[in-house]
Amino acid sequence: MNYGPLLFLGVFLTFAGAWIGMVYMPTITLNQVQATVQEGATVSNPRPYNGQEQLGRIVYQREGCVYCHTQQIRGGKFNNDQLRGWGSRRSHPQDYIYDYPVLLGTMRTGPDLINIGARQPNQNWQHTHLYDPQLITPGSVMAPFRFLYTKKKIGSVPSPDALVFNYVFVTIEQDEQKVLEELTNAGFVPVEKRDGKWVGQFDPADRETLAQIPGVKAVEPYVEDGYEIVPTEDAKNLVAYLLSLDRTYDVPPAENYGRIK
Ligand code: HEC
Repeated sequence: MNYGPLLFLGVFLTFAGAWIGMVYMPTITLNQVQATVQEGATVSNPRPYNGQEQLGRIVYQREGCVYCHTQQIRGGKFNNDQLRGWGSRRSHPQDYIYDYPVLLGTMRTGPDLINIGARQPNQNWQHTHLYDPQLITPGSVMAPFRFLYTKKKIGSVPSPDALVFNYVFVTIEQDEQKVLEELTNAGFVPVEKRDGKWVGQFDPADRETLAQIPGVKAVEPYVEDGYEIVPTEDAKNLVAYLLSLDRTYDVPPAENYGRIK
């Protein structure tokens, strides 16, 4: 007997079934997803990226941020993403309608970033962290992205977008623990020891007050006097993109979308 047609039918049904389940049905459901506009609002949720944010997104892809950071809040049984404070609700297909390609990510060497713009909206903080992650999170394994910044001599007027570093380096001569305690009492917040110097938070304009503490050999500002750190266009675009990452709006109930739960 010739089983050819039967074999063909079997193979055909297998592939057709897979296509219906994995391509056709998701397309039908996901095609219903749209940006929503809240009553009285002038922008949609999510709002489309502006030009600068789109350029920043390209920097994000180019620099490989996606290898260490995800952009997805899991839900259901896996709600520990929410317990970590990365988002108050599960990610929804609507969150990604302006994303191409979608940068979901697979590795979580660092925290999820889908809501980083809402969690950390301070521009200077974002730049400082990119320039020197260990300054903000001592021991961080994130590499500094210093090549996205330039160090230059301050001209007749300081650049308006120069980074503000409220950090100083302190060299302690002796009795490290005791001196460190006195520095802390004076308002210095130690971060970590680098090349024999303590780096910590303190207003560099007031650094003389620290220098007078006995046992302190030298206090230097984070950026040498007369110099400034300015972000390149890439850094500005990247931070604009990071600040646009805010998917905290309400989404329509899942049952509106058939199969998406
Ligand atoms: C080698 C892995 C790695 C890469 C690549 C990486 N990061 Fe990170 N990132 C981390 C880790 C680990 C942390 C957590 C520690 C810290 O705050 O530095 C982090 C933290 C952050 C945070 C703070 C998150 C929070 O919740 O406080 C931001 C923002 C961030 N990264 C942005 C970026 C951007 C933008 C890029 C690409 C230019 C990038 N990261 C590339 C590992 C990485």
